[in-house]
Amino acid sequence: MSLANKYRPKDWDDVIEQKYAVQILQNHLMNKKFNSVYLFLAPAGVGKTTLARLFASKINNAPDSYVEIDAASYNSAEAMRTLVENASTGSIGYEYKIFIIDEVHALSTQAFQVLLKIFEESPKKTIFMLCTTEYKKVPDTIKSRSLILKLAKITNKGLHDRLKYICEKEGLNVSDDILTYISNVAHGGLRSGISKLEQVISAGVTDLASAKKVLDLGISEDVLLEVITNLDDCSKVLRIVEDEIYAQCFGPEDFKVSLQQYVTDVLKYYYTNEIRYTNLSSVEGLNNVDPIKLRKLLKKLTFMNVVNKEIMDGLFILFNEEE
Ligand SMILES: Nc1ncnc2c1ncn2[C@@H]1O[C@H](COP(=O)(O)OP(=O)(O)O)[C@@H](O)[C@H]1O
Ligand SMILES: [Mg+2]
Repeated sequence: MSLANKYRPKDWDDVIEQKYAVQILQNHLMNKKFNSVYLFLAPAGVGKTTLARLFASKINNAPDSYVEIDAASYNSAEAMRTLVENASTGSIGYEYKIFIIDEVHALSTQAFQVLLKIFEESPKKTIFMLCTTEYKKVPDTIKSRSLILKLAKITNKGLHDRLKYICEKEGLNVSDDILTYISNVAHGGLRSGISKLEQVISAGVTDLASAKKVLDLGISEDVLLEVITNLDDCSKVLRIVEDEIYAQCFGPEDFKVSLQQYVTDVLKYYYTNEIRYTNLSSVEGLNNVDPIKLRKLLKKLTFMNVVNKEIMDGLFILFNEEE
């Protein structure tokens, strides 16, 4: 079993953060008053499935007392109809019939319609828990019938403390700078953090530099360095992006995220002169970076939340800007 599964919370006090959602679910349990549809909305690996399963088990006061389907594999109207039939006729042996539909955004339009129909009839003691990372792909008609529970990304401290806890439980000695590094690069996802920890453990490395190599997170520092040292030469930057980034199967979003992280790290290094405060594996070539230019770039990258190819084209204009 993977560490992520092994350490899936079995009770409320084991859940990291997500206080607001946990509070609501606990209130519903206390009052024994349930909505018929809950929609868990969050980025990957922050506790949607975990909370849905935990809540379901608590409602029926029995572990695994729910039916779970993965809409990414069963997305047809037919699959929903079978589910709906179960909901309206057969008993599954517990007080409440609970259906967890994971990755619900993957349902076909017809499947959503079937689902809607049963929501409208709202059979007694039947509860649906829908999970999704993609709010926009869930029809408004579904959303308007759901209690929406938004989960946040896990904070770096939350990630770090959970990873540390897992290491302690497993009797593993992983240095704190590695745990901090993993927390920084997990982008708020606990599953991602735990699986990175697992990679480092199974590679048997103990120092930060080797851990960084093991995790090798994509666009290399060399390429990013080339980008930031050529900010005045738009066509050169474009060429680097085409040849070294898009051609290596990275998308605009990867580029933006990596560049943002890299520039942050380079600035941290510039102001502290300490590589250990950064996620950099080398500081070679950083002596003649222009901090003012980088600060401006970072500010703009930070404001640029949604990135697609059109926005990327706009991004190149930034590189060319005069001081
Ligand atoms: N809030 C959390 N508290 C504790 N562990 C969590 C939390 N969120 C995620 N995890 C860990 O990450 C794994 C995947 O979480 P999961 O709930 O399946 O994420 P998703 O939001 O993608 O459904 C869990 O098995 C657990 O180990
Ligand atoms: Mg999930």
